[in-house]
Amino acid sequence: MIELQDIKKGFGDKEILKGVSAVMESGKVNLIIGASGSGKTVMMKCIVGLIEVDAGKILYDGKDFTTMDTHERKAIRQEIGMLFQGSALFDSMTVEQNVMFPLDMFGTGSYRDKKKRVAECLERVNLKDAARKYPAEISGGMKKRVGIARAIVLNPKYLFCDEPNSGLDPQTSLLIDQLIKELTVEYNITTVMNTHDMNTVMESGDHIVYMYQGQKQWEGSNKEIVFSNDQLLNDFIFASEFLREAKEMRQHELFSSGKWKEDLKNKGGNESGDDKK
Ligand SMILES: Nc1ncnc2c1ncn2[C@@H]1O[C@H](COP(=O)(O)OP(=O)(O)OP(=O)(O)O)[C@@H](O)[C@H]1O
Ligand SMILES: [Mg+2]
Repeated sequence: MIELQDIKKGFGDKEILKGVSAVMESGKVNLIIGASGSGKTVMMKCIVGLIEVDAGKILYDGKDFTTMDTHERKAIRQEIGMLFQGSALFDSMTVEQNVMFPLDMFGTGSYRDKKKRVAECLERVNLKDAARKYPAEISGGMKKRVGIARAIVLNPKYLFCDEPNSGLDPQTSLLIDQLIKELTVEYNITTVMNTHDMNTVMESGDHIVYMYQGQKQWEGSNKEIVFSNDQLLNDFIFASEFLREAKEMRQHELFSSGKWKEDLKNKGGNESGDDKK
């Protein structure tokens, strides 16, 4: 579990994160959504320590990352996997060498052990046959899967994915989402994912944090989104006439089945649907 307590970050006199608090649970894909420039990437970089926060605390399973010394931070970093936007593979290395890279950097064990671990991860993302290929020879979706294999090779407790679906078609995007979700549940990883992808939000948004101008504007699940009265969230998610109609239909469907009460009760929400936190 990762807990953010009132984190703030500015560049020069521009405040980017204006005091964000949130809890990212383990075994879940925690989504961070919001318009371009709302501070999603800055927040993710703060959480992993690529950028220092100006104020606030970041707790990794109760331990405050912001006050750790270099040695303690290194230990946490070894438990972090990252999937960068655009995959960020090394072009001059094969798929296998790319996935091997974190093991060479941090891992111990023999070359044989490392090769075995790489083979396991490539198998897990269904890329066994592409081990000897170079990034230029594989598709965008395959590159993402190599990125995922590389991110999980060290058995991370925490996984960060910045826009893992950018540039993919909707079906491939959903496959990538499914894979990330399966791995998250399988290994009880605390996964944090920045996304623009509304399919992702609606399909796998157990826990969604909606950022608006550097603040947490709303937090909840994909089920709660359908009943949210938050105008900014609604404008963002249901941006088109088509989606607004789809929302109404979904509300109607859930109301007539009576299932919405159960969903809200399980989430500890109230029945008025006013779920702004
Ligand atoms: N290193 C930096 N120095 C100065 N300003 C920065 C820096 N990094 C980010 N910013 C600013 O912080 C703001 C938030 O940027 P961020 O990249 O977090 O947005 P985002 O929500 O991830 O957007 P997108 O959806 O386009 O990826 C932007 O105004 C950006 O210009
Ligand atoms: Mg970003």
